[in-house]
Amino acid sequence: MNSLTPGGAEGPRRFPDGFVWGVGTSSYQIEGAVNVDGRGPSIWDVFTHAPGTINRGDTGDVACDSYHRLDDDIRLLTELGVGAYRFSVSWSRVLPSGGGAVNQPGLDYYRRLVEALNENGIKPVATVYHWDLPQALEDRGGWGARDTAKRLGELAQVLAEAIGDQVAMWITINEPLQTVRQGYITGTHAPGHRDLTLASAAIHHVLLGHGYALQAIRAQLPDAVIGPTMDPQPFHALDAAAQPAADALDAEYNRVYLDPVFRGVYPADLRADLRPPETLIADGDMALISAPIDFFGLNYYRPHYLRRGDWADLRLGESPVSGHPGVVQYLPPEMPRTVMGWPIVPDGLRDLLIRLHEESGGLPIHITENGCAADDYLTPEGTVEDQERVEFIHGHLGAALEAIDAGVNVAGYFHWSLMDNFEWAEGYRRRFGLHYVDFPSGRRIAKRSAQFYRQVALAGQLPPTPEISFEAAAPEVPQASAAV
Ligand code: FCB
Repeated sequence: MNSLTPGGAEGPRRFPDGFVWGVGTSSYQIEGAVNVDGRGPSIWDVFTHAPGTINRGDTGDVACDSYHRLDDDIRLLTELGVGAYRFSVSWSRVLPSGGGAVNQPGLDYYRRLVEALNENGIKPVATVYHWDLPQALEDRGGWGARDTAKRLGELAQVLAEAIGDQVAMWITINEPLQTVRQGYITGTHAPGHRDLTLASAAIHHVLLGHGYALQAIRAQLPDAVIGPTMDPQPFHALDAAAQPAADALDAEYNRVYLDPVFRGVYPADLRADLRPPETLIADGDMALISAPIDFFGLNYYRPHYLRRGDWADLRLGESPVSGHPGVVQYLPPEMPRTVMGWPIVPDGLRDLLIRLHEESGGLPIHITENGCAADDYLTPEGTVEDQERVEFIHGHLGAALEAIDAGVNVAGYFHWSLMDNFEWAEGYRRRFGLHYVDFPSGRRIAKRSAQFYRQVALAGQLPPTPEISFEAAAPEVPQASAAV
């Protein structure tokens, strides 16, 4: 449990022994090298090259060029002093057609990565699926097709065999909510569908993909540490009129993914047009989806607030909530927010951790993503003074400590992200990194927040104020962190 140091309430607050300090990235967002060494196209290659999909027409063709800069990235991680690195595997680099023939050079890249991480005392945390579905599978129905879930199991099996001896923790899928919502409902992410029938099938198949991946890794590696990563979105009703909408959105955004994994059922109050049809749910599917997991991965960025509101006469900070006439989403104009427009509410993280602790029956929870975009820029001195990110981290880690004090088994924190990268539909204009990336040259520069995070990770404690209290930039041998 968290205990205050002799400094009392004003002193630094300690995280539990063994707490995992990490950072995260994902393949399409950082790797580049999209046509190299036998990689096949993914839905993101196709989507980004279609006109009008991405801000300024940006693509992940080059991104941070991490495929060619593996040594640079390992150095960044080592200097950052983190004990774990969450990366994802580009499915079409390993299985260019989605299944079948393995592309050995692609697999070798991940082998080199995980070996280099372990050599440097950094635990590899592998996400099997972080949104970059092979286009070959999209051409055969994508997440609308049951076979795609099976193929995710195949990918997991290939990875378990090839790198399983090196991986400390496995994340089966990242944010099924966004795969379905942005990929199949709003069309803002690849593959860009707007089709509720497909979306309802995708809900089931992406969860089934989690089930098959879990089963494949477990079969190969009985001691593996495996879990899914999700991004439940808190919906708060600010008045009684908005409560039914808050409950409905909680089913549509959150319980539709949580309940199958924790309880093996879809929520009874899920809107009918999104409910996966019974005809798609084969015997044994729900048991596969709800098979025991070792941790829950939580991505947290923001909560939502709902209140009664007149759609024909919207006030400042209000926007209509589709499907719920007379209810608006409300962001108090004075509430601090990031350049994404997302409100900054650390308490939301604490509350979500407590909820998930209860819903999961006390599973360890890793905060697998948390972070903020900011308008970072290089000063003439060549530094990036992102004090708002330092404050964001300080606030959210404080919230995690409060959850720990309330009895939640918060096992780790992975800041999003190691470095600025391709932020999906926003392209490169949204910078989430602890390291600034000068995209024309690919150069990485530690921001002030990297120094702050390094101090916290190495000491395993949160200082009372969001300030850097020792010469964090001075090179030291980073201490190896405890086992994941
Ligand atoms: C999450 C994604 C991650 C990153 C952050 C900002 O939804 O999982 O890839 O884009 O948002």
